[in-house]
Amino acid sequence: MDWKVSERKETGDVLVLPLWKGKNKPANSALIGLPRSSVINTKSAFKSRFDGKSGNNLSVWGDKCRVVLVGMGDLDKCSNKVARDAGAKTLSSLSKKDGTKLTVRFTSGWNLDSMLWFIEGMMLRDYAFVKYRSKDKKEKEEEGEWSLDIQASGRYLKDLDAGITAIAGRVEGVHLARDLANEPPNYLYPMSYAEKAEEWGKDKSNVTVEVYDWDDLQEKGMYGLINVGKGSSRKPCMVIFTLNPNANSKERSPCIVGKGITFDTGGISLKPGASMDEMKYDMHGAATVFGLMHALYATGHKGRVRAIACLAENMPSAEAYRPGDVIPTYSGKTIEVLNTDAEGRNVLADGLWKSGEFDPSYIIDLATLTGAVVVSLGHEASGLWSNDSELLERVHQAGNKEDEIAWKMPLLPAFEKEMTGSKIADVRNLGKSRWGGANTAAAFLKQFVPNRNFDENEEQIPWAHLDIAGTAWGASTNAMVGHGATGIHVRTLHTLITNSD
Ligand code: BES
Ligand code: MN
Ligand code: ZN
Repeated sequence: MDWKVSERKETGDVLVLPLWKGKNKPANSALIGLPRSSVINTKSAFKSRFDGKSGNNLSVWGDKCRVVLVGMGDLDKCSNKVARDAGAKTLSSLSKKDGTKLTVRFTSGWNLDSMLWFIEGMMLRDYAFVKYRSKDKKEKEEEGEWSLDIQASGRYLKDLDAGITAIAGRVEGVHLARDLANEPPNYLYPMSYAEKAEEWGKDKSNVTVEVYDWDDLQEKGMYGLINVGKGSSRKPCMVIFTLNPNANSKERSPCIVGKGITFDTGGISLKPGASMDEMKYDMHGAATVFGLMHALYATGHKGRVRAIACLAENMPSAEAYRPGDVIPTYSGKTIEVLNTDAEGRNVLADGLWKSGEFDPSYIIDLATLTGAVVVSLGHEASGLWSNDSELLERVHQAGNKEDEIAWKMPLLPAFEKEMTGSKIADVRNLGKSRWGGANTAAAFLKQFVPNRNFDENEEQIPWAHLDIAGTAWGASTNAMVGHGATGIHVRTLHTLITNSD
């Protein structure tokens, strides 16, 4: 989406006027540049039908320019969610058949934050995964992209320009995450993700991308990844991204870890057939990691940030790992495999342990880890666990700010006890009953979060776990997305990292 910021003078093909409730006529500044007939029609529509209530939108046809009145509701109820949702819903209601030149004009009641939220909503919603559907692809090529002229009072223009520049960079990251997650599993497999990552890093002087392929994994003893991925002809790998490797070298920096199961059949503990296609999204943690790195890069973040994607395809085959196997991991701890469908935690075990080598300020992992978290929270929130109350609160607040809710969940000692109660290995990959399955999964992961300097006398590195199984796709209430992957938590983590590190 092309965009620019300008004063309220001219209009494009469509003039979007988001207006707060309780004003009985549009501000004069709202109608500048419209033909006389449109001004008259808009004023009359405003008098007779438009009341500014939230969701009460009205289109006014005119010769040159269509005017869309967007009801924003009560100004004192404005929040990041209200403004972002309104922007997203407005964009999704427009048709390129009416012209692609949009003017969004902000008048009374709008401040910098709320304008930015509205525009962000529009930009986030401007996405569709059409590359494999001939009809959509052709239509997109013919119609072209939206161009957006954002207009407000002169005193806001400079800050709007800077704010939207940053938002556009973040939105690129979100859309990249969606692209990766939406890609079908025959095209997106562990090493193809790694190639995309290398390609992305190639011309960026402040970025490094390292790939541990099958042989490297063997050499390093990353048997969590190896075992989950060995049943597939597409072999597993680990991808390590570093942004600004040479920045503030004395300071610790964050490390973000993503589950990247490019397809999860369940393996030998095979999943039922219904909706199994959705398991192409089982790499959304790794997609978020990649999208986040792009968002940080595109917004010119100066601090060092690391990210690790743990990639494997979980397939049943003669080579596959089985229930009953005991597998070693990179940490040296052994896992009793009781269900090969609890595979995400096995690959994350290696990724989390690897993080410790960077002596990070904190570790955050993202994973479409359990069906149980969807039972708990539906599609409205990700589950959030942490061994550190301050980090827990910071991730939670960043999520609230971005309307990507991360709900605090319990990391109880009883769950850890359950997962470390194997008779034959250090950790079991399945709880003893099916209850609290998202919590036992989190308790499993905690066993692989290293202490500082891998020293048993030191404290565990601050760590947070986001179970995104319910939020990575399928939320009909998420106005930012039409269909498919959401790109969840690219914005949460971008905000967390850029506001504090
Ligand atoms: N990728 C799934 C979790 C999942 C299920 C995500 C449904 C989104 C929607 C994960 O690998 C898995 O299969 N988890 C099992 C764990 C169980 C065997 C302990 C589950 O949730 O059933
Ligand atoms: Mn699984
Ligand atoms: Zn999975």
